[in-house]
Parts: sequence; C-alpha cells; structure tokens
Amino acid sequence: MSDQTRFILDQSDLPREWYNVNADMPVPPTPVLHPQTMEPVTPDFLSVLFPMELIMQEISTERYIEIPEEVREIYKLWRPTPLLRARRLEKMLGTPAHIYYKNEGTSPPGSHKPNTAVAQAFYNKVAGTKALTTETGAGQWGSALAMACNFFDLDLEVYMVKVSYNHKPYRRIMMETYGAQVFASPTDRTQFGRSVLDENPDSPGSLGIAISEAVEVAATSNGTKKYSLGSVLNHVLMHQSIIGEEALKQMDMAGEYPDVVIGCVGGGSNFSGLAYPFLRQNLRDGQRTRLLAVEPNATPSLTRGVYTFDYGDSAKMAPIVKMHTLGHNFVPAPIHAGGLRYHGMAPSLCALFDAGYIEAKAVSQLATFEAAIQFARSEGIVPAPESAHAIRAAIDEALEAKEKGDRRVILFNLSGHGNFDMTAYQAYLAGELQDYDYPAKEIEEAMKSLPKVELPA
Ligand SMILES: Cc1ncc(COP(=O)(O)O)c(C=O)c1O
Repeated sequence: MSDQTRFILDQSDLPREWYNVNADMPVPPTPVLHPQTMEPVTPDFLSVLFPMELIMQEISTERYIEIPEEVREIYKLWRPTPLLRARRLEKMLGTPAHIYYKNEGTSPPGSHKPNTAVAQAFYNKVAGTKALTTETGAGQWGSALAMACNFFDLDLEVYMVKVSYNHKPYRRIMMETYGAQVFASPTDRTQFGRSVLDENPDSPGSLGIAISEAVEVAATSNGTKKYSLGSVLNHVLMHQSIIGEEALKQMDMAGEYPDVVIGCVGGGSNFSGLAYPFLRQNLRDGQRTRLLAVEPNATPSLTRGVYTFDYGDSAKMAPIVKMHTLGHNFVPAPIHAGGLRYHGMAPSLCALFDAGYIEAKAVSQLATFEAAIQFARSEGIVPAPESAHAIRAAIDEALEAKEKGDRRVILFNLSGHGNFDMTAYQAYLAGELQDYDYPAKEIEEAMKSLPKVELPA
C-alpha cells in the first residue's frame, strides 16, 4: 500500500447530483404537522417561509436531484474537498486502524454549511426572494449563508444566539463583512424575543428562540422575506450529500472502504451528508458500514431524548415533527460546541436511529477537547469544537481497534475548523471547562409541554 496522505478529486469529478435518502428509507416517513391545527402541513403553509423548489425537494422521493450549474460553479471555489488519511494521529495513538477524514473546513467560511447555503440562496434568488432571515448558533451557519446571499445579491438578517454573539465577535464581523445584519437573540425586534426578555432579561438565548425570531420576521414580512434553516430539514441533508458522494470516490482512490463512518450531530446535516451515501451502499449494495452519530452529553437528543412529536422551535411557529427531542423549551448549558445545541434532530435520522440503521453515542466536553488537542497536535488542524465530537469517537474506535488488534477503517467528517473558537480553547487550556450531563429531571419536565398529537390509526 502506498503512503499517500491526501486524496484529491479533480474539479471535473465534482458530483452532478445530490442523493435523496427519501428514495431508500427502509422505514415509513412520519407526517410533518401544522403547529396550530396539528394537521399535516400543506405546501401553501410552507411557502410563507420557503421557495416552492425547496418545498418540492423536501417532499421529493426521487433518488437523485440535479445540482444546478450556478450552484456547482460556486461549489468549485472549494470543492471537491480533500480526504486525508490521518497517519500522524494513527501513529500518536499507536493503532492498527486506518483513520480517514473529509475536511469540510476548507470552505471559505470554514465548515460544511455552505453546501446548503449556496443552494438555498440560489433557489430563493430564482423564486424572486429579495431577503432572507436565519438564526445561527456557533456562527458557522450564519457565515455560510452570509457568503451565499452576497453571491446572489440577497439581503440577510441573522439572529445569533446571545451566548455565541458574546463569545464569538469575529464570527459576527465575518457575517457583516459579507454584508449581513446580525442581532443578538433574544432581541427586542420580535414579539417572541420581547416576551423572552420580559421573563428573563439575561436570557443567554437558544437555537429554539433564535429560530422563532427568524421565522417570525419572515412570516410577518408580507412575503418580502423568506426564512432559511441550516440543518434538520430533508432538503438541507440532501444538499450535504455531496460530502459522502465525494468521499465514496476518494475512499476508492485510497483502495479502502470504511468499517465505520462518524459525524457529530447538531441537527444532523453534516453527519447525514457524509453517512447517507454510505447508508445507500448498505441498503442497496450489501455493504455493512456502521454509521455513528456523536452528540455532547450536554445536549443528548438522540441518546436520551424522547422519540415523539415536538415543535421545531420555542415559540411553536415551526412545524411539529417526530424526532428525538429534549423539549422545544430547552435552554442548554453554555457548552462551547454552540452548533450542537438544538433540542431536536432531523426526522429521517431519528427514524433510522430508532430502527437500528444508525448508532449514536454521547461524549463529554472535556474528553472532546482532549481529542481536539490530540488532533491539532498530530494533524495540525485546530478543529471546530463541534467536529471534535466526531474526532473523540474516531479516536475511541481507533483505541478499541488497538485493544482488539483489528485493522478497522474509520472515516469521520471534519465538519469545520476552529479558528474562530479560540475562547473555547482558551477556557479548556486554562482548566476552566467542566463536564456537564443534562439532568434527567429537566427532560422529564420538558415532556410535559409536548404538543398533544393524535394520529389516525
Ligand atoms: C462546524 C460545525 N459542525 C457541526 C455543526 C452541527 O450541525 P449539523 O448537525 O447540522 O451538521 C455545526 C453547526 O453549527 C457546525 O458549525
């Protein structure tokens, strides 16, 4: 075997289609419900927030959807992204395992998020939208959409979770550099934001609250603004499938096939983006790759949340979906992986996890930063704290392989770099970070405010 480290695709190998897991779902879909009537949502309801083309993608069961040329042209600024064999990390761990990672941190804003941001901005532009609203947790999504809106000449309002706004001023400045307006959520610009501030003027904010604010602004704009979400929805997961499609070709170049594919999960988009094309190979081609989603102990929606119908946001304006949830009122501890703090998870991923097609595990904050430091010191890249959850799990797999003496092939998604996350690294290096397990009684309490959904038998 050669000692190649980087597996680079030519620009002409850039995939021409996204993969839609809906075509191959081995479990029946669950309905998406209107937050007030609790009846299945109609395209009309969704069209207040999204352009019709994205709504059609949301419900499509076509296996492949063509990537528009305008989107591919922008993807070419950084795609195909490199696949690397982490030889130096393998050596540091003394493991017989082969560790590969897909580096999505090479996009201009630094994560996988532009894969869907560019597509969403494009379809909005074509539909005549003039402005978008969105929320952002860590700032990666906001930066990605700010870049994309700038390319398509759309205005953008970003509602940034207050704790991240304060921790990460440079992310805000990056969004402003691309031309977006950024507000610390909860704000006094929306009815919902004001109600949160009345109750708690010091609210640190949450993704659920910021989503509510961005949705409210779009829904009350008389059609002048649409809303854009960076994870959870089917069409977002589908746009991210370009990661896995490239990785399949690159693993082929490396002459190996992964035994396990790993990604961190916030709403589920980078994990699904890498894993769903491998799931397709499991379902249709007889492969047996394990697919492992990794979340923080502090926001354990898959591993400890309840699989039930819940609202997508705190103000109960977004549709109700069936997912593993910690409750739509969830206000998480200010852990440093800001992008993993959502109360729920993509419905397709939850259904696949529930049916045993996907595995999940939760890891602690300190063990995650320990893995991030090992990765930075062996491979040279300072990972985003979100991505470090995947690294933790990849290292655990490699150490288990060492113990058992097996030559496991591990592939994980490096969903972003951590160059704007120095406050978190500073806190870790100063010994100021702590582990935090989400209390069981909070989950129990939150389940009391779930919507009362009764489906026909
Ligand atoms: C670098 C990075 N990785 C992962 C995530 C989690 O999102 P998702 O589960 O949609 O990939 C985020 C979200 O902000 C992020 O910024």
